Amino acid sequence: LNNGLARTPPMGWLAWERFRCDIDCKDDPDNCISEKLFRTMGDLLVKEGYKDVGYEYVNIDDCWLTHSRNAKNQLEADPTRFPSGIKNLSSYIHNLGLKLGIYEDFGTKTCAGYPGILFQMDTDAQTFADWGVDMLKLDGCNVPTELMPYGYPAMGYYLNQTGRPIVYSCEWPAYQTKEPDYQAIAQSCNLWRNYDDIQDSWDSLKGIIDFYGDDKGNFSMFAGPGAWNDPDMLIIGNYGLSYDQQRVQMAMWAIMASPLLMGNDLRHIAPESKAILQNKNVIAINQDPMGKMGKRVIKNNDIQVWTRPVMPTGSYAFTIVNYGVYGTPAKLNYKLSDMGISGSKSYLITEVFDGSKIGVHTTSDVVTYSVNPTGVFMGKAVPQ
Ligand code: GLA
Repeated sequence: LNNGLARTPPMGWLAWERFRCDIDCKDDPDNCISEKLFRTMGDLLVKEGYKDVGYEYVNIDDCWLTHSRNAKNQLEADPTRFPSGIKNLSSYIHNLGLKLGIYEDFGTKTCAGYPGILFQMDTDAQTFADWGVDMLKLDGCNVPTELMPYGYPAMGYYLNQTGRPIVYSCEWPAYQTKEPDYQAIAQSCNLWRNYDDIQDSWDSLKGIIDFYGDDKGNFSMFAGPGAWNDPDMLIIGNYGLSYDQQRVQMAMWAIMASPLLMGNDLRHIAPESKAILQNKNVIAINQDPMGKMGKRVIKNNDIQVWTRPVMPTGSYAFTIVNYGVYGTPAKLNYKLSDMGISGSKSYLITEVFDGSKIGVHTTSDVVTYSVNPTGVFMGKAVPQ
């Protein structure tokens, strides 16, 4: 969507994957969906250095609403869990130098059963703008999918009419049973979920990587400044992934130019997970100004290779992912030309996570890469 926003993939934090629909503030006051949770996460984005490396949005997901609209037919946050209201929360978040995102659903109800926006789009867009909301995630439960090609652009129109810059995140393609019309989606939305919800597991992560690798209908071509395919939240720092698997997610979200929305608990993050999430070299690949989404160029049993053009001109980032569980690092031999890297005679190859130098190589030199079981090697090749 060409609204001047999300020129690089949005970065921030989103409640759903880790906190789900926990509305029990009586027995679980520290983890329930409440203004306190979002303030805390905002505070930690600043205090723990996430803001400094680019994480900016604090995003509410489902279960923030009361079960009915007010007398003026407007949406209202649950008064016990959000006693100060969303406008107050957005001021708090803005004072931290951050931005606030909110969640709604195009249908009659959200996925968790709270009021949706169907037939109230103009009112609701205005409410979000009045509250100082900076991003809207619009889900697609409880509505016929045939209405989506009208409904999603319509809500985009009303958001635009408010005059407030609001990043627009759509789940439109994720609900399509036929091939989605990505042209229309990219024209209407800043980011869009294409696929299933991420869960806290390596299997879920692999399923997502494979879906984007298959790139059915070549949807990767629609990614660029203002328009991003969204493979869902980062689960780094949670329960389900090993250290190497967490590096796989970070590297792959960078190579795919994916939004970096952490779905974790910033109060409890192992230092090594935090280091992965804050790795400046990997983030720089994710935030590359050209905004080209990487593609899978090799798939061979347990091994796959992805490449992505990045700055400086003529350079590439690449990932070699090993799904294998054979207990020792795989030694893999590739020429740059095998990986679709060409155009210059020789390249300086570096490892991205730690910036170490691999060497200067021509496109036909065979280079050996060591990739841990269920791990990744992330490289960058810069023309010399
Ligand atoms: C859907 C979405 C998720 C989350 C939940 C909330 O499943 O895909 O990302 O927003 O709804 O109910």
